[in-house]
Amino acid sequence: MCDRVMRVFSGIQPSGNLHLGNYLGAIVNFVELQDANQCIYCVVDLHSITVWQDPEKLKRNIHEITAGFIASGLDPKKSIIFNQSSVQEHAELSWLLNCVARVGWLNRMTQFKEKAGKNKEKMSVGLYTYPVLMAADILAYKATHVPVGEDQKQHIELSRDIAQKFNIDFHDRILEITAKDEFFVLPEPMITGPVTRVMSLRDGQKKMSSSELSDMTRINLLDTADQISNKIKKAKTDSEAIPEKMIEIGDRYELINLLSIYAGISGQRKEDVLSEFSGKQFSYLKEALTDLLVQKICPIGNEMNKIIDEKEYLGNILQEGAKKARAIAHPVLEETKKIIGLA
Ligand code: TYM
Repeated sequence: MCDRVMRVFSGIQPSGNLHLGNYLGAIVNFVELQDANQCIYCVVDLHSITVWQDPEKLKRNIHEITAGFIASGLDPKKSIIFNQSSVQEHAELSWLLNCVARVGWLNRMTQFKEKAGKNKEKMSVGLYTYPVLMAADILAYKATHVPVGEDQKQHIELSRDIAQKFNIDFHDRILEITAKDEFFVLPEPMITGPVTRVMSLRDGQKKMSSSELSDMTRINLLDTADQISNKIKKAKTDSEAIPEKMIEIGDRYELINLLSIYAGISGQRKEDVLSEFSGKQFSYLKEALTDLLVQKICPIGNEMNKIIDEKEYLGNILQEGAKKARAIAHPVLEETKKIIGLA
């Protein structure tokens, strides 16, 4: 981490089921960063509608993410918390950046390929250009750092490419208008912590995801102690004993996942977790992991349940956050338009 204050931006989609992957891959880092940096955290509702969302549920899902942020320790006095659609600069900048990004770049995005599968032709155009909106989210704040899970790395790299191409394409205008060589900041991905990719409880080679049909594949922050216990009990494992060294684990993906989750939640190194459980039965590891998850995740879920229906409280947080966010994003958009020759 660098010693100067960073401007941090990140977002989470309100597509229901805030889960352990979101928590360990992103939210834990969001909380850690907020004390020493300028942090901006966004509920990316415009991203979520790239696949159909039930309008009745969307509002609640936006509040669920906001409640999840607060219950996990984000403080609206320290971090800017808002939802994307209330700051229109995101959508407008996204259009401008659509005209900078190249089709070839988007064609390389693995997440679109995974999500679309064989149904590419039937996907929304929004799902295809989604990484450009993500670039607009980040570049509108000239964010220097973007804490995310590993699955978002390629999208941040695309944001860097878009920023760089803009800086090159409009170099002379940028110099003339701002007296600087570059306009957009190239954001750095921050993919840190012991678990940058939490895997499905049913398939150690698949990412834990809110869009997976079976709820048994993930731990949701709103799960009860019984649900957590049941999901961990039924989590896929193999029949070998737990080895002594990481190097001996090989391709035992489900074991790696359970150990990583344990390490992430307990704040220990994976190697230390392994030595604690080596030679023991899986049932022993599963019981210990269940206890740990119940102890750490259930209080967050309980707090979320307490505040999720406090619509005014959550609404105010988002509204205040949107005002602060807009104060940063608006001048950046205006300057971008001026550089392009639109204003
Ligand atoms: P989303 O909503 O899918 O996920 C939110 C965050 O959680 C992380 N994450 C995971 N980390 C580890 N293991 C997992 N199984 C796992 N599943 C999800 C994601 O990496 C992410 O950090 N496109 C983004 C949202 C976004 C955004 C942005 C992020 C929109 N604009 C600007 C950063 C900056 C997304 O769909 O994340």
